[in-house]
Amino acid sequence: MVTTTWTRRHVLSLADFLPTEYDIVLQTAASFREVLSRRTKKVPTLQGQVVTTMFFEPSTRTRSSFELAAKRLSADALTFSPGSSSLTKGETILDTAKTYLAMGTDIMVIRHREAGVPHAVAAEMDRLGTGVGVLNAGDGQHEHPSQALLDLFTLCSLLDPENPRSQLLKDKKVAIVGDILHSRVARSNLWSLTASGVEVHLAAPPTLLPKLFAHTIKDERRQRLFLHWQVEPALQDADFVMTLRLQKERMGQHLLPSLREYHQHFGITRDRLQLCKPDVKVLHPGPVNRGVEISSDLMDDPALSLIQTQVTSGVAVRMALLYLMGGRSR
Ligand code: NCD
Repeated sequence: MVTTTWTRRHVLSLADFLPTEYDIVLQTAASFREVLSRRTKKVPTLQGQVVTTMFFEPSTRTRSSFELAAKRLSADALTFSPGSSSLTKGETILDTAKTYLAMGTDIMVIRHREAGVPHAVAAEMDRLGTGVGVLNAGDGQHEHPSQALLDLFTLCSLLDPENPRSQLLKDKKVAIVGDILHSRVARSNLWSLTASGVEVHLAAPPTLLPKLFAHTIKDERRQRLFLHWQVEPALQDADFVMTLRLQKERMGQHLLPSLREYHQHFGITRDRLQLCKPDVKVLHPGPVNRGVEISSDLMDDPALSLIQTQVTSGVAVRMALLYLMGGRSR
């Protein structure tokens, strides 16, 4: 296990993450991946601590992997389900959070359709001097830090399984293709990838990739960001291709003529991958619209697709984050 200089109580955004912090997460996740390969896949690290997942939006893999991560660390995992909770009786989110605080929660993992909700809960926990750590599991179109960290871990582990570190990605080309406009995954990946020295090429139709997106990054990392309204230049010689789901639930108006047309122009297929480096690999955070952003056969091809590896990496990376945040006892 690495000796850490980790000082973060909350993980809300990757915008201000330092290179050393990425490496601490990667190395800690590598140790937990080793734990997960043992016969007994559990360590007593967070024994007696309470991790509460509060998901105000649907989720399959993120919530399950946080809960499994908490259990593998021997924490007690509580699951808040908004549909069957007192929210329906008018309780506010902050009051809900305080209820879980009163039950002894050490770490809150929060997903909400509005950007900024995890930040608001974190600010309230700090104001009250609780010591509770808040982890953003996806807030609106803003950020999804644990997804970008598991993507980073997946990529770096592919390049050096024993010693994954962000430096390995320096000067690699990553194409991110799909619904960038609505994607918190793309925004968080923008931070982690450009911080690792990656050239990031975003590709989408103009309705899903406004020019202004380039202004997300204001520092020198902006030089490593490229926008394309066609997929081909983004794929040309790419080392990795990250595909994103078309988030129909967030599309207020008709931003695309049809899904078929989208697939024709931007769908990732074996043919299109010919443009990339010969050993290219494809990622997708899931859930996938099969045959829309990625062809079905490509998605299921383990020689090209890292989608299942991403899910597996998610548990180790989330164990690392919970371990590093370490709850109130820190
Ligand atoms: C993503 C999300 O919820 O932001 N999924 C995930 O967490 N694995 C992406 C998406 O919903 O398309």
